[in-house]
Amino acid sequence: MIGYGEWVTTAPSPQLFTQDFWDDPHPVYAAMREQAPVHRLQLPTGMEMWLVTRYADARTALGDPRLSKRVGATANAAALAPQISGPLTRHLLANDPPDHTRLRRLVAKAFTARRVEQLRDRVEQLSAALVDAMRAGDRADVIDDYAVQLPIQVICELLGIPQDDQAEFRRWTGVLVAGSVDRSGVPEAAAQFLAYLRGLIATKRADPADDLLSALIASTDQGDRLDEDELTSMVFLLLIAGHETTVNLIGNGMWTLLTRPEEHRRLLRDPSLIPSAVEEFLRLESPVETATFRVAMEPVTYGGVTIPAGGVVAISLLSADRDPARFPNPAEVDLGRPDNQHLAFGHGIHYCLGAPLARLEAQIAFRDLLAAFPTMRLAVPASELIWRPGVLIHGTTTLPVQLR
Ligand code: HEM
Repeated sequence: MIGYGEWVTTAPSPQLFTQDFWDDPHPVYAAMREQAPVHRLQLPTGMEMWLVTRYADARTALGDPRLSKRVGATANAAALAPQISGPLTRHLLANDPPDHTRLRRLVAKAFTARRVEQLRDRVEQLSAALVDAMRAGDRADVIDDYAVQLPIQVICELLGIPQDDQAEFRRWTGVLVAGSVDRSGVPEAAAQFLAYLRGLIATKRADPADDLLSALIASTDQGDRLDEDELTSMVFLLLIAGHETTVNLIGNGMWTLLTRPEEHRRLLRDPSLIPSAVEEFLRLESPVETATFRVAMEPVTYGGVTIPAGGVVAISLLSADRDPARFPNPAEVDLGRPDNQHLAFGHGIHYCLGAPLARLEAQIAFRDLLAAFPTMRLAVPASELIWRPGVLIHGTTTLPVQLR
C-alpha cells in the first residue's frame, strides 16, 4: 500500500490513498460522510490533518475566517510545504486578508464575466483548430489531443507566454500538482519553473505587449502594490490553475458521457443543455478533489469534531458535492439538475477567480466535440482507465476514444 496517509480513527476502508482509491474514491468518501465526516488522519511524517467530507461542513470551512491559507503559519503545517518555498508561495491561494484582498483586486478585472466573454471568439478558433486536427484519424485521446491543449493555449495567450514554452512548463506543473506519492522531483521542478518565470518577466519588462503579464508588471513598477515575488507567484498560480483544472473538467465530463450512453444521447439531441451539463460534470467529478490546505488559527468545531489550533484542514469538494443531505440522488447524472450549487469552484473569498473562463472553455469544448464526433466512444474498457493519484486533482490520465 502506498502510505500517504494512515487511518488513525475508525476506518470505513483501509483503501484511502491507494490507486484503487484514486480510480474510484466515491465509495470511501460515502462511508466517511456517514461514519467519520471530519476525519483525523496522521501522515507518516507525524503531521495531523482533518479531512472534511460533508457539504454543510465543507461550505462552512471554505468560508471560515478562522482558517488561514498561510500554511507555513504553524509548525504542524509548515511540514506540508517545505519543498516549494519563498518566491512561489506569495500568491492569492497562500494569503489571507489584507494581502489576499490587495492581490485579488489586481487580477480580478482580467477575469470578470464581461472580460472573459471578449475571449469567446479566440477560444472558438482554438477549439476549431484542435477538432480539425483530431478529424485526421479514427482514434484520438481526448485528454492529450484536446482537453490539455485548449486551456493551456488560452491561458498562455492571455498572459502573453510564447507557444514554444508550453510543453516545458506543462512538465513542471505536472510534477508540482501530482500531489502525493513521490515528491522527489518537486524541488527541481519548482526551481526550474521559478528561473523560467523570472526570465519571462525580465523579457516582458524590456518589451511589454498588450497582455496580462505586461499589465501586472506595470502595476509592480508603479510602486508597492505588487512586489517582485508576488508577481512571480501570481503568474505561477495563474498558469497552474489556468490549465491543470479545466483539462479535467473536459476529460471528466466526456468520461461521464461516454460511460452513460443515454445521457450522451440526450445531450446530442439537445445541446441547449450544455451549460447545465457542465455544472453537473463539475458536481459529479470535481476536477479539484480537495481544496488547498488551510490551518486552524484557533480551535474550530465542524460536525461535532473539534480541530485544535494548528491543525491542517483538507476539504473534499469531490465528497461534499455527492452529499445526499444536499443533492437528491447525488450519484446520478442529471444534465438539467436544478439547484446545483456545487462547491467545485470553492466558496468564500478564495472562490475560483477563473470560473467564468473555465465555464466558457468547457461549454465550447462540449459543443464542438459533440457536434464533430457524435458517435465518439471509449476505445478501451472504462475499467482500464487510470485516474491521477494525489489529493489535489481528480481526472483520468488518458481518455482514448474511437471517433467514428
Ligand atoms: C481558486 C477550482 C479553473 C484561477 C480555485 C479554487 C477552486 C478552483 C476549488 C479554490 C481553492 C481553495 O479555496 O482552496 C477550479 C476549477 C477550474 C478552475 C474546478 C476548472 C474547471 C481556473 C482557471 C483559472 C483559475 C481557468 C485562471 C485562469 C484560480 C485562482 C484561484 C482559484 C487565481 C485563487 C483565488 C483566490 O485565492 O482568491 N479554483 N479552477 N481557476 N482559481 Fe480556479
